Amino acid sequence: KTYNVAVVGATGAVGETLISILEERNFPVGELFPLASERSAGSTVMFRGKPVTVQNLADFDFSQAEIGLFSAGGSISEMYAEKAGKAGCVVIDNTSHFRRDEDIPLVVPEVNPQAIAQYTNRNIIANPNCSTIQMLVALKPIHDKVGITRINVSTYQAVSGTGKEAIEELAAQTAALLNGKEAECSVYPKQIAFNALPHIDVFLDNGYTKEEMKMSWETKKILDESIEVNATCVRVPVFFSHSEAVHLETRTPISAEEVRELLSKAPGVKVVDERKDGGYPTAVSDSAGKDEVLVGRIRKDISHANGIDMWIVGDNVRKGAALNSIQIAEVLIKDYLS
Ligand code: A2P
Repeated sequence: KTYNVAVVGATGAVGETLISILEERNFPVGELFPLASERSAGSTVMFRGKPVTVQNLADFDFSQAEIGLFSAGGSISEMYAEKAGKAGCVVIDNTSHFRRDEDIPLVVPEVNPQAIAQYTNRNIIANPNCSTIQMLVALKPIHDKVGITRINVSTYQAVSGTGKEAIEELAAQTAALLNGKEAECSVYPKQIAFNALPHIDVFLDNGYTKEEMKMSWETKKILDESIEVNATCVRVPVFFSHSEAVHLETRTPISAEEVRELLSKAPGVKVVDERKDGGYPTAVSDSAGKDEVLVGRIRKDISHANGIDMWIVGDNVRKGAALNSIQIAEVLIKDYLS
């Protein structure tokens, strides 16, 4: 059996990766419908060696598709996802628009695949935030073993999470500055090249940014309501892959060796943890373009009896977005649609 798949935002950073991963994993695509704004309608994307024409989302009839992978921003999902769901297309939405709705499953397949069953509520499944996904893939086995009570996390997030324009802005600013010219800022409010911005998504009344609160809200919904998360999210001049310094407090103590052992058997995780120069994972050298979440720097927290520290790196466009969506689709077709 094959499934007709619509990719909404097909010309974007995540959309392009969605299409290449559908091909790479041999997802049983019948017809592919790449959709974007009228600006890109009529252009083509390559799929299985053939050009496929991009259509204008506004004119698309979603009853033609069985699965819709949405990645064109929250306002586009707000406008089209329910319409698609009602037309019989199961939407897997990459934006934050539906994530907190109680009747919408929010899924990381390695963590809570059982939640996919609720897709029938509205024919929509939400894909979590990129920083949350990679963190929870690594923390799930530890939570199952000793119970995580609190997470302190600082992120070092790549510009690709913002989209293609941000990738171009980092490249243009870097080239300009290295050539003695001024850096022009349009996507970010301050220079991103050679800098670190403690600001991702909008500011909220409690002083946190929305990205920081997403890590808290989504961890509770996906893993356990009782886990408290304190996040600081930072945009750094990296193109692909987010890094995270994660500090855990657990209900009962666990040693660094036990964590290493647990994570070495965990699905979707690769431990890269040698206590020597370069014995840790990094965005550019180890993670970008890879599917696994990489974990290193595992150690006991000297400031807390039940504390564990680690460094978690994942490709934000792949596991943080496109790959996770397609893994959800794989469970959906195997367990529910076939
Ligand atoms: P387009 O290329 O036609 O603007 P990114 O996250 O990399 O910025 O990509 C955003 C994606 O969302 C692109 O594929 C973009 O298409 C798409 N998009 C943006 N606005 C709209 C819209 N109004 N209708 C349909 N697709 C849109």
